[in-house]
Amino acid sequence: MITVTTIAELRVLLDAHRGNGHSVGFVPTMGYLHDGHASLMRAARVENDVVVTSIFVNPLQFAEDEDLSDYPRDLERDLQVCDEAGADVIFAPTADEMYSRPMSTVVEVPEMAKRWEGASRPTHFAGVATVVAKLFSIVGTCSAYFGEKDFQQLRIITTMVEDLSFPIRVVGCPIRREDDGLAMSSRNIYLEGDQRAAATVLNRALRAAIGAFHNGETDGAVLSQLMASEVTAEPLAALDYAAVVRSDDLTTARTVDDTNRLIIAADVGATRLIDNMGLGSTTPL
Ligand code: PAF
Repeated sequence: MITVTTIAELRVLLDAHRGNGHSVGFVPTMGYLHDGHASLMRAARVENDVVVTSIFVNPLQFAEDEDLSDYPRDLERDLQVCDEAGADVIFAPTADEMYSRPMSTVVEVPEMAKRWEGASRPTHFAGVATVVAKLFSIVGTCSAYFGEKDFQQLRIITTMVEDLSFPIRVVGCPIRREDDGLAMSSRNIYLEGDQRAAATVLNRALRAAIGAFHNGETDGAVLSQLMASEVTAEPLAALDYAAVVRSDDLTTARTVDDTNRLIIAADVGATRLIDNMGLGSTTPL
C-alpha cells in the first residue's frame, strides 16, 4: 500500500493503471475509519484491480458552528484499517493541496439537498458535492463506493454523476451496525456515558416502523409518527425528523410500499445521529 499526497502524483499513478487495463475502485472518506469504511474497501477490493481510498476532512462541508477542528483524526490507525481492508493506494492530501485558493466553483443538487439533512445543515451538501466532484475529477474513471448510512448524500452524488455524465459507477453499500444496532459512524466516539445506550433509539424507531409496515400499515404519516414517538420517549434524544420517503428523489411518501425508505435524525447530547432503512428490509437490526 502506498500513500500519495498530491493530485498530480495520484493522476499519473491511476492513469498508468488504467493504461494497463486495470479497473479502479475508489472509496472517499474523511478518515477516522471504522468497519463501515472497511466494508466499502472490501467491496471495492472484490470488484477492482486497484483500490484507492481518500482520507480528507473536507472543510467545505462543515458550517462555521460545526465540528471541523474537533473532527476526529488518526491517520496512523486509518492506514492500518486501509491496509487490512485491502486498499492499494491512499490519497491523503492537505487542505492546501485540495484548495490552493478559495473555491470559486460550487457543485449543487439543490432540490434534493434542501430537504432533511439539508434543512438543518443548509450548506452541507454543496460542500459534499463539490469535494466529491473534485475527487472524481482527480481519480478519473472508476467505481466509487459509498455507505447507505448517508442515504441522502448517496442519492445526491448519484444524481450529480448522472446529470454531469461523470465516468463513474456509484455503488451504494449496506450500513454496518454495532451489535446493539447503532449505525457505525466516526462521530459515535462523541457519545458519552448514557448517551451511547440512548443512541440506539434511532434503530429501535426504524425497526418499530418496519414491524408496523410488515403488519399492514401503509400510511407514511402513521409510520413517521411511530418513529417520532419512539425517539421522543428517549429523554437524552432530541428528534430532528422521522419520515418515509421515495428512494429516488427523497420526497415524502404518503401511501408507502417496500421501495420506500425510512429516514431519521436526532441529536443525542451534542452529537447528531442519522440512520435509515429500506421498508423492504427484512433484517431485524
Ligand atoms: O461521507 C463522507 O465521509 C464524506 O461526506 C465524503 C463523501 C468523503 C466527502 O467528504
